[in-house]
Amino acid sequence: MSPSVLFVCLGNICRSPLAEGALRAEAARLGLDLIVDSAGTGDWHAGEPPDARAIAVARRNGVDISALRARQVTPGDFRRFTHIVALDHDNLSSLRELAPSRATAELSLLLDHVEGQTGQAVADPWFGDEAGFEVTWTQVTAGARGLAQRFSRTG
Ligand code: 4NP
Repeated sequence: MSPSVLFVCLGNICRSPLAEGALRAEAARLGLDLIVDSAGTGDWHAGEPPDARAIAVARRNGVDISALRARQVTPGDFRRFTHIVALDHDNLSSLRELAPSRATAELSLLLDHVEGQTGQAVADPWFGDEAGFEVTWTQVTAGARGLAQRFSRTG
């Protein structure tokens, strides 16, 4: 079975669509067969495209995330995906509360997959400026590389 990864942040318009775009790009580069999606613990932005600043930073780095649309995490996600990767601690806590008893997905923080950054959060760039989105891109790219390396080792 191919690994499948769901990235989860709060709104699904900034961090998790960037992580989705970064891992899709890394999987394509490495020729990895991965299913990648993203969702939010909140539903305020459901149906919306990513934030314009997120689309812009991805585009500057050669990745098009403009067609993604926000959605909220569902109980079924905990069995549909092999890995659910939270962008920060609040969202990881929300996922633990939402997880049905029959959940099979492995939960982690994105930066757990980056050497030396285990247990750290990807800061929310929503209230900040463009520079914050560059930091987010750097972090999600590092996380995506770490995850992709793990999957290329384990198949
Ligand atoms: P995200 O950023 O969780 O990285 O998508 C946010 C987007 C929207 C809101 C908060 C964070 N909001 O409060 O609407």
